[in-house]
Formats: sequence, C-alpha cells, structure tokens
Amino acid sequence: MAFKVLITKKIPEQGMIILRQNDCESVVHESYRPISRQRFMTEIKDSDAVISMLNNRIAEPLLDLGQKLKVVANLAAGTDNIDIQACTERGVAVTNTPGVLTEATADLTLALILSAARRVVEADRYLREGRFSGWDPLLFTGSSLSGKTLGIIGMGKIGQAVAKRALSFDMKIIYHNRSPLPEDVAAPLEAEYLPLDDLIQKADFLSLHLPYSPEVHHLIDKEKLEMMKPDAYLINTARGGHVDEKSLIKHLKAGHIQGAALDVFEREPLLAPGLTDLDNVTLLPHLGSATKEARSAMAKMAAESVCAVLAGEKPQNIVNPEVYE
Ligand code: GLV
Ligand code: GLV
Repeated sequence: MAFKVLITKKIPEQGMIILRQNDCESVVHESYRPISRQRFMTEIKDSDAVISMLNNRIAEPLLDLGQKLKVVANLAAGTDNIDIQACTERGVAVTNTPGVLTEATADLTLALILSAARRVVEADRYLREGRFSGWDPLLFTGSSLSGKTLGIIGMGKIGQAVAKRALSFDMKIIYHNRSPLPEDVAAPLEAEYLPLDDLIQKADFLSLHLPYSPEVHHLIDKEKLEMMKPDAYLINTARGGHVDEKSLIKHLKAGHIQGAALDVFEREPLLAPGLTDLDNVTLLPHLGSATKEARSAMAKMAAESVCAVLAGEKPQNIVNPEVYE
C-alpha cells in the first residue's frame, strides 16, 4: 500500500516527483492560508509522513493523533515550530533543510542591509507617491557600508555566508556565537569574536542569524536596544521571537536607532501595531529562502528525507538522531 504524505502547503514540483517515484500518495493543502487545525488533525490520523511548514505548530495533542506517523520533514532550516522531544518520545523522526538555503538567506540579508542603509524602500514609496521633483543633494542620503562594522549574532553557515558577502563591501566583521569559530574558519572572514554586549555596542549593522529557542526569546530587548549606537541598524532574517518588537518600535520612533529591516516577526503574519507606520523600517513577508533554486532544493531535500525514513533508513538531515539509537 502506498504511503500517505501530508504536505501542508503546495511545494515545488521537484519534491513531488521524488514522492511519486517512491510509492507515496500525497495529500496537499493547496490554499493560500495555512492548513486549519481541524484539517491537520483529521489528515494526520492516517499519515505516514508530514512535510510541514515553519508556521505549523507540531506538538501534542496533534502528534498523539498520528498513530502511523514516522517522520515530520520541516521545509525550513529552523525547527522551532516543532516539539522535538515529543516527536522523539513517539519515535517520530524530524528533519530540516539546512545548507540549501544558506546562500539565499545570506543574499536577502545583504538586500536588507543595503535597503536599510540606502533607504531603498522608503525612496521607492516616495517616487510612487509622485513626490520626486528633481535631483537633490540632500535627498534620501543614507549610510555607506564601507568601513562600517557588521555585528553578526549566530555565526553558523548563514552568518558566515553573510560575513563573506559583507567583506566584499569592505565591512569589518564582528560576531557572537555560542562558541568562537575555529581559527581556519574565522581568519578568511576576518571575523572577530566578541561577547554579546560588546558586539551590540560596536555594531553599525546588527544582524541576527541564530536559531530560535525559548532561551533566546527577546534576546534583543529594551536593554539591548539601548546599547545600540544611535546610528545603527537592526537586521533580522532569523526568527521574530528574537526581538521585542514593541520595544523596537519605541526605539525606532524615538530615533534611538537609525533603522531596521525585518524579514520575520513575532506573531507572523501579524505585525506589531505601529510597525507599518514607520519610514525607517523595511518589512518583508519572511522571504529569506525564497529563491526558486533554494525552494526547489528544500522541497527535494524534504521529500528525500521522507522517503529515507519510510524506507527504514536514517535521513541525512535528522534533527533528533536519538530515534535511531
Ligand atoms: C526559514 O526561516 C527557515 O528556517 O528555513
Ligand atoms: C542552517 O542553519 C544553515 O545555516 O543552512
């Protein structure tokens, strides 16, 4: 009998091809809205696998309904939407899609840094509003990147890919991470390790690239925002929960920091009240990995993980290897 794979959003065809080739019958939630709790609860009952999105909360009691469930393949690098321990306890493998979205996410981070520094979105809006009345030496003057300091919190693959790009803009790289990078990795990036508070105080651009967990909830809170330079920018392409959005809005309004560029939000798809009223923020709808190349590779990787688990093999991107011990 074919395996049933529940896919909670339409994914690129590259993933579907692999599932079809491996005796999987997919049930795809096609709507532009996230799958409803009710449908999820119904479909999971006879599903062998789920390909989940980062905005699907996967925990008890949903997991208790998935009596046949063997694998949850999250179409994301982050797995903070999944109760990993609850999956492990039930013998459910959890996989993610690291690596293949590194370049895409780093590219978008640079896009946000440049957008913030050069006021790209704000200027576009101004033009569309018909307000451009000719070249002006003072019009939308921003900040140059050359010689500025980029502070990276979370120096995994994505943080490093951002550093590599920023180096070519002649930025100075400082970073904070759970542990300093090995010298042979840090040296080519000319990246200097600093304690968190020092880093926040020194950065002209502060960019977040660490995974989310409750321990780092509101890592950037009122106190940390106050440490930032008044002409600094905050860039977030990681997870919304890292930043106290309310405090950020207050700081932006008061001009305590220069600007922010955010791809992720605390309560996606909702934005904190006041955020869209501010001119000194660039706001994107969680597009970090949104290139055709990355999304195809993510779909392929998730499908391969599902097929591996269903074939009794250990998938490459296992998040909870304990289920195989
Ligand atoms: C995107 O946010 C991801 O974690 O892949
Ligand atoms: C995942 O965390 C990555 O850096 O690709």
